[in-house]
Amino acid sequence: MCGIIAFTGNQAAAPILLDGLRRLEYRGYDSAGICVFNRKKLYNWKSSGKLSALESLLPDSILGSTGIGHTRWATHGAPTNENAHPHVDTTGRIAVVHNGIIENVDSLRLSLLPAKTALLSETDTEILAHAIAHTATKQGGPLIDAVRTVLRQVIGTFGIAVIDRDNPGTLIVARSGSPVILGIGDGEMFAASDVSALSRYTRELVHLDDGEVAELTPQGFTVTTLDASPREKKSTHLQGQLEEHDKAGYAHFLLKEINEQPETVKRAISGRLDEAFSTAHLGGLNLQARDLLDVKRIVILGCGSALYAGMAGAHMIETLARIPATAEAAAEFRYRNPVIEASTLYIAVSQSGETFDTLAAIREIKRKGGFVLGLVNSVGSTIAREVDGGVYMHAGPEVSVASTKAYTSMLTLFALIALLLGRTRDLSVQQGSGLVTSLHNLPVQIDYVLQQHKKIASIAKKIAHSQSAFFIGRTDGYPVALEGAQKLKEISYIHAEAYPASELKHGPLALVTEKTPCVVILQDSDLLAKNISTLEEINARSAPIIAVTDSDEPRIKKLAAHVIDIPKGDALLQPIVMGVALQLLAYHCALHLKRDVDQPRNLAKSVTVE
Ligand code: G6P
Repeated sequence: MCGIIAFTGNQAAAPILLDGLRRLEYRGYDSAGICVFNRKKLYNWKSSGKLSALESLLPDSILGSTGIGHTRWATHGAPTNENAHPHVDTTGRIAVVHNGIIENVDSLRLSLLPAKTALLSETDTEILAHAIAHTATKQGGPLIDAVRTVLRQVIGTFGIAVIDRDNPGTLIVARSGSPVILGIGDGEMFAASDVSALSRYTRELVHLDDGEVAELTPQGFTVTTLDASPREKKSTHLQGQLEEHDKAGYAHFLLKEINEQPETVKRAISGRLDEAFSTAHLGGLNLQARDLLDVKRIVILGCGSALYAGMAGAHMIETLARIPATAEAAAEFRYRNPVIEASTLYIAVSQSGETFDTLAAIREIKRKGGFVLGLVNSVGSTIAREVDGGVYMHAGPEVSVASTKAYTSMLTLFALIALLLGRTRDLSVQQGSGLVTSLHNLPVQIDYVLQQHKKIASIAKKIAHSQSAFFIGRTDGYPVALEGAQKLKEISYIHAEAYPASELKHGPLALVTEKTPCVVILQDSDLLAKNISTLEEINARSAPIIAVTDSDEPRIKKLAAHVIDIPKGDALLQPIVMGVALQLLAYHCALHLKRDVDQPRNLAKSVTVE
């Protein structure tokens, strides 16, 4: 949520800042700005709207080799030019960009600002610019002292970057609750809220921890705590190929990411299947077979699509390992004073590895002595660093705000975990071996669905103008329905509700009419007859049915207006394959309605505030 980039070196800062903002735009895209120091002055440009709006008002060439940039997701104050970051103090000395929320703005104003300081914006951030400038002038001494003095009094969360007209070439960055990563270059230094903005320039990274402040100059950096105690920080070397930030010929990042799924699922599985013992091999869990045997319960935590992936994962684990498993909204978890048990395995799921609520749940569990695993996509992210063990998705950067390839990778990893836990218990070699084969076959299954994109597009055209839609699923079809409804809401803005099939008649049926398309997930299982009854109920209310099914049952074709065929496969993995069909359905509805597919209104990809 909000992207920060900062640079100091000997080349022009502006192109680096703008390139960084382009890569960070998924974090927020309602306004953007950059501020560059040149010839004793700070030059600040900012604009409401997307990064392109900012770019259109910039001069052709911007001199200056120290600067900061920001792309915003509004919390305090509407997305206007005035509220866009960077914020500069009244004397034009200090410029600040900030990610997070400051909760004690009023008391900071009273304690740190001269009485007559006029605020130009409605943001919580502007106060920092005035307070740092005022404190630096009053205190004298190095800028970092003034930054620390101010930040010690802040209540809330922040990742900030500060430049000072009177300290050319120096950048101060600090972190408390919102990520800040330093990038070490050759005679230059970078900082950003996400590795994606740095990886093109350097692979030597330093992750700041909460309560740390860093001073950056082109020659290097020092890190201290807010109390000025020195911190020794080790750099990490970013592994793997540089992922290009382009759409690879697709119209949208979302479509590219949907189409990458056969490959990303392959990567999630790669090197993790043990054919000899028909099980999964997940070295990063930091758990021995004996530890796995001691697990009595599993609690999965996540937000948004990660939560729905967790619900599907809980089902997989219960099915294969017969360990009671539930998924819970991470944001709710810590506020209900949860009981943490030593025999429960907690699993936090997050694409970004930075979602504040998921991180807060992890910290609550660890504070009470629980053991937490992480299923994370973003390598080196805060969640990846704080959990006791985990598994990376290796899905590559997911740029589109709505999750697709990370979601299917989450489910794939849950299938591996379920297999592993099952094989430490009652799952036979034969059953395990069947699943291993099916996992290898999963990319082909997904590809089969992708090949139906034209048919799905034509179905989307027929439902895109509906006000409202229902997604219905039974047992493991219900999380599929939840995620399908989520995708449609997020990117097409069509109101969509997911219900367990059995709940339909307990209320929502009152809203089912010929104007409410019903997307029904129909697995070819022994519950098929019950699902057909659900179709009958919907059909009796004249609602158009879109059946997503791997069954050949003729009654489905009779009752449904449209059928999306899913290839037959292992029942445990069918939710993954069916989910892909719903992603395409949402995509084509959004396309038809001319929505901003990759950057839907009001949303941000990485929610680093509460
Ligand atoms: C935001 C995004 C969702 C995502 C959720 C959790 O709300 O808009 O698409 O599912 O955060 O994100 P995470 O990075 O923790 O998976």
